[in-house]
Amino acid sequence: MPEGTGIIAVLIVELAALGFGASAAGQDARAPLRELAKKRGVLIGAAVGGRLLARDPDYAAVVAREFNVVTPENDFKWGPLSRERGKYDFTIADALVAFAAKHGIAVHGHTLVWHSQLPKWIEEGTFTREEMLAILREHITAVAGHFRGRVAMWDVVNEAFEDAALRQNLWNKGIGPDYVEQGFGIAHEVDPKARLLYNDYGAENVNPKSDAIYAFLKDAVQRGVPIHGIGFQAHVVPGEIDVASFKRNLRRFGELGLEIYVTELDVRLKDPPTDADLKRQADTYREILDACLAEPAFKAFQTWGFTDRRSWIPGHYKGMGSALIFDADYRPKGAYRALHECLERAAAK
Ligand code: XIL
Repeated sequence: MPEGTGIIAVLIVELAALGFGASAAGQDARAPLRELAKKRGVLIGAAVGGRLLARDPDYAAVVAREFNVVTPENDFKWGPLSRERGKYDFTIADALVAFAAKHGIAVHGHTLVWHSQLPKWIEEGTFTREEMLAILREHITAVAGHFRGRVAMWDVVNEAFEDAALRQNLWNKGIGPDYVEQGFGIAHEVDPKARLLYNDYGAENVNPKSDAIYAFLKDAVQRGVPIHGIGFQAHVVPGEIDVASFKRNLRRFGELGLEIYVTELDVRLKDPPTDADLKRQADTYREILDACLAEPAFKAFQTWGFTDRRSWIPGHYKGMGSALIFDADYRPKGAYRALHECLERAAAK
């Protein structure tokens, strides 16, 4: 091979590794996702880790380049923030928020009221209803107060439903079903400008769980509880979301006056995936974003992580993985290109 050709070949391989060039991405000089999303007036983003942003420059570069909203994957949760009642360590959370501010990225807070990843003293303690309410108020005041003005929207209550009924978690047992509206009321007092969301999984299609959430939120909205939006987590396998049903579902929640968010999308595959699997995955990403873009109440589309290098899926679903839009070497996958195409079309309209 002549010398010059060799250098070009090396360059092409290196550029491909960075995600440029037809071989890796089929999109020379492509606009980042966030640029297209901005033109369309929506947010596009992912869950990220504060520690990873600080220690992995490739990871941080993708976030800064592609996204205009991020959700802290774990750093804002009660357990990670606080081990003792009233004592909080915001070091990592604040670093994440500073990174976002520096790059013009909105922060989606996750989450104030949940049954999981709690400090031990709450899980192991016994409290009266009054004490539980005081604990909830102290926590929301501390955390939403700390981030006031820096967090655009909060998942105030996460996963309160189990199938078609309110989950019997420690908040429901300790306070009663009104803990949900208490949470929203306190969050609104503490940060009146933040958008306040209810977030859950398995409610993407019209099904008994989404019916129950719909009835619950309809009643709450009618009674003036400050709930501004619904987050669909969307941890799915290809085919799990029935597009027609998903669209009907988005429409009915939108008609309640609620904003619509996809908050934690990932499309897990059996590892290692075949080309056909990856194609179905890309189609799934495309269908979900397209359905959202057709809905006037739609505000933000977020994946749970963005690279197969760092994803909760292999640790939580045995034998599954490859769920995200960048591969383990930060190369855009077909799923990335699918989102890019959707946004490009929407931005051009
Ligand atoms: C997950 C994180 O991704 C993991 O790192 C952690 O070990 C457990 O929690 N629904 C949610 C998220 O609302 O908070 C969960 O995040 C994934 C499911």
